[in-house]
Amino acid sequence: MPVRDLTSDDHVSYRRLSSGAFGGSPPDPEPRPFTPGEIPIGVDSSALPGGADGVIAAGARIRRDRITWGEGAEIACGGIGGLAVHPAHRGGGLFGELIMEILARCDAEGMPVSMLYPSNPSIYRRFGYQVVASLHSIIVPLLDLQQLPRVPGRRLVPVTEETMPRVRALYRELTAGDNAMLLREGPLFPEGLPSDGWSALLLVDDSGTDHGYVSWNRVPSSERGYGLQIHELLGRTREDRIALLGSLASWSTVLEHVCLRLRTDDPVLDVLPGAGSRPTPDPIPLLMMRVIDTAAALEARRAPAGLAGSFRLVVEDATVPAGICRAGGAWVVAAADGTISAEPTEDAGTADGGTVRLSIHAASLLLVGGRTIADARRLGLEVEADAEAGRLLDALLAGPRPSVLDAF
Ligand SMILES: CC(C)(COP(=O)(O)OP(=O)(O)OC[C@H]1O[C@@H](n2cnc3c(N)ncnc32)[C@H](O)[C@@H]1OP(=O)(O)O)[C@@H](O)C(=O)NCCC(=O)NCCS
Repeated sequence: MPVRDLTSDDHVSYRRLSSGAFGGSPPDPEPRPFTPGEIPIGVDSSALPGGADGVIAAGARIRRDRITWGEGAEIACGGIGGLAVHPAHRGGGLFGELIMEILARCDAEGMPVSMLYPSNPSIYRRFGYQVVASLHSIIVPLLDLQQLPRVPGRRLVPVTEETMPRVRALYRELTAGDNAMLLREGPLFPEGLPSDGWSALLLVDDSGTDHGYVSWNRVPSSERGYGLQIHELLGRTREDRIALLGSLASWSTVLEHVCLRLRTDDPVLDVLPGAGSRPTPDPIPLLMMRVIDTAAALEARRAPAGLAGSFRLVVEDATVPAGICRAGGAWVVAAADGTISAEPTEDAGTADGGTVRLSIHAASLLLVGGRTIADARRLGLEVEADAEAGRLLDALLAGPRPSVLDAF
């Protein structure tokens, strides 16, 4: 079944497929180009037995994202969006065809990792994707926030078209040490204010230096039990986070609760003054990732200062045929002077420093960073590691656990 690149002529048919699968308004009947930030691919219904002309049987978009990759590093990432198979063609293996093409395409486009938010993790897992994070939001009573002390030397500034670049700069600066945070670059993240109803405040000091921001949408509180959806609360210091969180208490005349979207191990949790917060009743979004090119994923990361050594790494990728992408293989991985190298090796013998052998799922979990071989074993993922090699791999991949906030 030929998977091909979709063009502007396919835009309406693809949108019909995706809005049919996920809901949402029917597409604008005018053909439009896809955004250059995405690679749209699909299969024609007419290429399948009993198929119809002008219908896309299966389609998906590969986002050209860049994400943080541990302290001070970045990596290209193929984010999968809008993957759907037409109801007439389901159950015939088109999903697998699309995923295989996505993996090959990410590899060809120089994207060493891929990520997605699955609605059904098990179908992606069989192709090597691994759940690496879950994304939580909490409902916070404003009564709790009224206990926060006033922070001297800080004031709030409205975010406008003009001040929006300062929010973007703060986002980049304050998430630069995280793993897997989107860099939010154009064309997928165009300049300007994000959307109607989106509001934000910058936190500045007396000299006008920016220290953080909080962004939200006002939502009908009767429907959800909270009246503000806080998208992000990022502060440079603990005091800055207290100032931003405390500023939300001003809503207590009209609202009782706000909903706060969190990063993994979000530092804002450490400044919540009360214990009255509770999880939202919504399903918890999961984040899955997959290694596409093991050597490139390792070499993109910086080695912790002072760490030196080498070991043999074997990644066994039994989920896709050999040659689809460069996740599976054997490498001599070496760390020195803050860099990591991964040279392919045919040598099956004992390497200096020992060997670590990972299934694709263990590799997809560990190579994002912030996890250890012990974590992979706890999940029942296949790992064999000589003690010294395992310690070096863990030390190389140390850092915060992965986290993604999809948009401003
Ligand atoms: C989910 C979807 C993409 C599957 O496409 P498909 O072409 O029918 O899937 P395939 O025929 O290739 O089947 C792949 C495997 O997934 C399984 N599968 C398919 N749909 C499934 C479902 N809803 N729940 C659980 N397993 C499912 C199939 O049983 C098959 O397993 P098998 O190989 O052991 O038989 C398709 O049903 C669809 O478009 N659904 C609506 C949109 C959607 O959910 N997209 C994914 C968003 S993350």
